[in-house]
Amino acid sequence: MENLLTEIDHVAIAVSDLEAAIEWYRDTLGASVAHREVVESDGVAEALLRVADSYVQLLTPTRPDSPVARFLARRGEGLHHVGYRVADCAAALAAVRAHGGRVIDERPRPGSRGTLVAFVHPSASFGTLIELVQDDADHGVTRK
Ligand code: CO
Repeated sequence: MENLLTEIDHVAIAVSDLEAAIEWYRDTLGASVAHREVVESDGVAEALLRVADSYVQLLTPTRPDSPVARFLARRGEGLHHVGYRVADCAAALAAVRAHGGRVIDERPRPGSRGTLVAFVHPSASFGTLIELVQDDADHGVTRK
């Protein structure tokens, strides 16, 4: 079948101190922030560091009951999810369900940067939380 994944959009890392993580990536690896956003609906603040055409997404909770806060409490800092770029988020979500995958989002919903996203549950995808990311518009962030 056709590969539905067109690119790695971002690798998301949960951190407890966003400013310290941003500084570390900047001072140690020279990676700078391309975009920052607070996504209130998810209870997260994020910073995107550009790596070629993809991003490292540093994530930190904005409230104690957010999913990322629970992740940090349970697992500590580290890899949280992988975001794959897809041309059609709804179609990719349907493909996951058709193959027995367990989805977290029943339908695509707004993500950061004006994207459309849906999450796939790690229990049916070999332990990795997967985010399907559809980025139709160039918001001056995703493409040079
Ligand atoms: Co993400």
